[in-house]
Amino acid sequence: MFETIPAKKGDSIVALMTEFANDPRTEKMDLGIGIYRNNLGETPIMKAVMEAQKILLETEPTKAYQGLVGDVEYTELMQHFLLGGTKAADRAATLHTPGASGALRAVADLIAATQPDATVWISNPSYVNHQPIMERAGLKVRSYPYLNPETKLVDETAMLAKIAELGKGDVLLLHGCCHNPSGADITLDAWQSIADLANKNGFLPFVDIAYQGLGDGLDEDAQGLHLLANQVPELLISTSCSKNFGLYRERTGAAMVVTSSRQQALNTRALMCELARGSYSMPPAHGAGVVKLILQDDALTTLWKQELKEMTARVTGLRSALVEEFQQKTQSNQFDYFAKHKGMFTLTGFDDEMLEKLKADFGIYIVKGGRINVAGLKEHEVPKLVDAVIRCQS
Ligand code: LMR
Repeated sequence: MFETIPAKKGDSIVALMTEFANDPRTEKMDLGIGIYRNNLGETPIMKAVMEAQKILLETEPTKAYQGLVGDVEYTELMQHFLLGGTKAADRAATLHTPGASGALRAVADLIAATQPDATVWISNPSYVNHQPIMERAGLKVRSYPYLNPETKLVDETAMLAKIAELGKGDVLLLHGCCHNPSGADITLDAWQSIADLANKNGFLPFVDIAYQGLGDGLDEDAQGLHLLANQVPELLISTSCSKNFGLYRERTGAAMVVTSSRQQALNTRALMCELARGSYSMPPAHGAGVVKLILQDDALTTLWKQELKEMTARVTGLRSALVEEFQQKTQSNQFDYFAKHKGMFTLTGFDDEMLEKLKADFGIYIVKGGRINVAGLKEHEVPKLVDAVIRCQS
């Protein structure tokens, strides 16, 4: 039965992760998968998470099933966290999911169940797993222009021109902040234009917000999402606690639907529960238990926000250091885009040949297309990376 299955390596991110782990060199540099590391190259558990885990260990009363929605209190807190204060707050319902990929799939399954002919529009480029997740749910996927390869910033004119062609039956997948893989975000004006176009032409916006707090701050990073939530009648959202709570392996995410009434939202979530029952059934509890304790406790929330700010400041500092080093060594502003990007990633556009050289000659691992995880860099590695890039370019 299985003899025809060819050997597979996984997508470009997963394959690189394995390759890096198998590289025996000690001086290697992992700038691949999106994971935050401190200046020692470690991904420590956040202090707020440690505290919450201790409490959870002592107080968790049972390991009995939580039900298809997952941890209900967690869903309410997450919904408040993302939509609180917006006009959508009373018309939304939330499903606790296994990570953001689980949320993406839950939303994809919902779209496929309610509008099987829908086309999901993703940015070009987009997160490597967006297209596979949508397609495995049976949906058609097409892309809209996003990044200007010259400036490495968003070409909003081209983007909005394409979005203006979308209508009923189209779902527009947007990155809430810290665009993956480019790091280039759209302006608030572009979010406004998208809201206007959605209201005029009837396409459904879908915001994937997996890096909230790692750009300009928790509130600032949600501005685009909040603008849509205040203005459009229906909205889909997927979110993650992997990066901003550092809960990667705990697979803690949420899928939200905003509809025209609370009852409709609950009916929609009930359908999502039925669809989840046919796949993973119920999400893992631990990560949500931790997030819940943090968001319910003022002191833990303050501690978490402070740690998140420090993480973000480290990445911003690395971006400035890279720009400075590149300016000095190339006598040009060619790499200034590093400081214009937000979040963990920057898409350099380095070609396959250059990426191979960086890997083979310098042990530097960068995802296909040239996505660098700036959050994986140590301060003292900045000159080494810059030198290696210059040498491979010439
Ligand atoms: C990434 O883009 O590197 C992360 O979102 C990790 C993943 O699951 O792909």
